[in-house]
Amino acid sequence: MSRPILIAPSILSADFARLGDEVRAIGAAGADWVHFDVMDGHFVPNISIGPGVLKAIRPHTTLPIDVHLMIAPVDVYLDAFAQAGADRISVHVEAGPHIHRTVQRIRDLGCKAGVVLNPGTPAKMLDYLIDDVDMVVVMSVNPGFGGQSFITSQLRKIEAVRRMIDKTGREIHLQVDGGIDAETAPLAIAAGADVLVAGTATFRGGPGAYAGNIAAMRGPVGVAPAEPTPAA
Ligand code: DX5
Ligand code: ZN
Repeated sequence: MSRPILIAPSILSADFARLGDEVRAIGAAGADWVHFDVMDGHFVPNISIGPGVLKAIRPHTTLPIDVHLMIAPVDVYLDAFAQAGADRISVHVEAGPHIHRTVQRIRDLGCKAGVVLNPGTPAKMLDYLIDDVDMVVVMSVNPGFGGQSFITSQLRKIEAVRRMIDKTGREIHLQVDGGIDAETAPLAIAAGADVLVAGTATFRGGPGAYAGNIAAMRGPVGVAPAEPTPAA
């Protein structure tokens, strides 16, 4: 069974002074989700945007808003993001002691729940979580900044997570986040990813370039192969 490839531009690389316009522009350019990166200067060494900004952009798009929380503690902020209009909320397995409870809470709030693995975290961390999540996110850079290079060792992890997902028989998205562009996207797709986050490579060149940038990452076919190709 082939899977459609979804592109989720990270608005971390958008023009923050014109966020409403930027969100509408990526929608018109063919984006599937809006990726919303939240950083706290504690779990990651950078500070970005919070629920107030989410609430402000919500009326500007009908696309699902995919919130990536890079914060600790995380549980106390879940309600605020759900109320501000998040459709999906992903949390790091490294960010708190009670990831299972956090995932349950996200679902209780009516959002799709994702769990995120940092580059140094093994796929094995999913053993007792996979049956309860709607998405797994493999970080292909260390979180905290846009514009970093794709860490190729993560391709093996994407393959391993794809095998775990397929074994469940459930529809679980496999998202890859960091350093995705027209060159690395096919590698991530071949390894088993079906949702690609891209900040720098989406917003490069300004609004006139967004549609071409997104199409280049989705690839000519726009679907994942039935069997992922093992990474070299
Ligand atoms: C990294 C963020 C990513 C990142 C993507 O901490 O989670 O979503 O901003 O940016 P690019 O595509 O520039 O690597
Ligand atoms: Zn992200």
